[in-house]
Amino acid sequence: MPELGVNIDHIATVRQARKTYEPDPVWAAALAELGGADVITVHLREDRRHIQDRDLRLLRETVTVKLNLELACVGEILDIACQTKPHQATLVPERREEVTTEGGLDVVKHRPEVQQAVRKLQDAGVFVSLFLDPDDDQIEAAAQMEADAVELHTGSYANAQGADQQQELQKLIRAGEKIRQLNMQLHAGHGLTVRNVQPVARIADMHELNIGHSIIARALMIGMERAVREMKERISV
Ligand code: PXP
Repeated sequence: MPELGVNIDHIATVRQARKTYEPDPVWAAALAELGGADVITVHLREDRRHIQDRDLRLLRETVTVKLNLELACVGEILDIACQTKPHQATLVPERREEVTTEGGLDVVKHRPEVQQAVRKLQDAGVFVSLFLDPDDDQIEAAAQMEADAVELHTGSYANAQGADQQQELQKLIRAGEKIRQLNMQLHAGHGLTVRNVQPVARIADMHELNIGHSIIARALMIGMERAVREMKERISV
């Protein structure tokens, strides 16, 4: 069964709405762990719109499961990642005007920067995952860069319906096979909910699913621990 990575950025988004001290993502991480999270995921964005440097420092000390830091290939953030040494770093694209990460990282177009970032993080002892669309050229480039894992962007699957969704699922399944053949770990995430997660969780050798919005949205209604436990049960397939 895949590991569940709980992305707690939205907790920090609510705090930053008032630039106050609550709700604290450190508390949310502890509750997510109590609910069975295997991984705590945060994205330290260059504009610091939600997670702050202080959050990352404290989470590094307090999270007892795996800590996964999402980051763009930006010098300052890479330096912070190498100093903080989370267990895992996931390289993602980042655009200031986006509401959330909109597509996979284009590692073919940005090969030199991504290659350098992968090496720098690995030299610091960090396991490196690349957030990619389910595309053969992207996956092959990731393998050439010796990435440790690929996180497949599941946004197109999550946004599609009916036969289109089945087609998107087939793309994820084929991409997953390729990632495993190239000896990289298989992760997936974006737009996953209790309703659409199971077919993705069933993809062969799925190692980690990263889920944020849906878990935090449900946590507002039913509590963090329960929302995480509910998702854990859904992915136990
Ligand atoms: N994986 C990556 C790399 C992401 O950037 C995000 C969004 O921050 C997620 C997973 C989680 O997406 P969602 O919030 O839609 O569950």
